[in-house]
Amino acid sequence: MKYSDIINKIKTKLQIELENEATGHDWFHINRVYENACFIQSKEGGNRNVIALASLLHDISDHKFNGGKLNEGGKIAFQLLIENGCDEKTALHVKEIVDSVSFKGANVQDEVISLEGQIVQDADRLDAIGAIGIARAFAFGGNRNRPIYEPSSAPTLHSTFEEYSVSKSHTINHFYEKLLLLKDRLHTKTAIEIGKERHQFMEFFLKQFYNEWNLNTINKC
Ligand code: ADP
Ligand code: NI
Repeated sequence: MKYSDIINKIKTKLQIELENEATGHDWFHINRVYENACFIQSKEGGNRNVIALASLLHDISDHKFNGGKLNEGGKIAFQLLIENGCDEKTALHVKEIVDSVSFKGANVQDEVISLEGQIVQDADRLDAIGAIGIARAFAFGGNRNRPIYEPSSAPTLHSTFEEYSVSKSHTINHFYEKLLLLKDRLHTKTAIEIGKERHQFMEFFLKQFYNEWNLNTINKC
């Protein structure tokens, strides 16, 4: 089967499955990561088919949605690709990327991955920051019953994926535990350039957030 046919089949499947997803991991997130990954590939090189397939499948059976199993996505992505007529070499490369794409904690080093993996990870990380990143974080926090902010609860810089994956902290902490760290954990020149404005926007948002919060505290009766 042609790669373009496999890509289209997977797009259709995900579009249907993720239509009403409400935690910021909806079809539009997948499609933005796919489009951004293809754009980065056009500037930085790498195998376009692997990048397209891995970006589409990067959140499949993610630990946040599969009951906490930490390393299942790659296996599911591999099976799906083989069932859809993909060759084993490409499917294996996609598996490797899906297994290593996620952020695993502030003090957990990213695994060394191929250029294709770096591009997919950069595209996913760009969608976690900026205005869209802020919207996604609060959507996810609300879905998991997390408070918006609890001033007395400080962020934790997690040292293991296990600790990070079970954290129940408020959503403002997520900025310090992940989102503000991402600008220094992008790999490609193209993504670093795109990420600058998005990072500044989050800093601006937080400054305004604390200003409003504190004004309220100062004026209390
Ligand atoms: P990753 O695989 O790196 O986790 P995803 O594409 O699955 O990336 O999306 C992660 C996004 O989910 C975060 O950027 C954020 O928007 C949301 N999210 C995950 N954990 C939290 C959390 N503890 N608080 C708020 N939002 C979160
Ligand atoms: Ni994602």
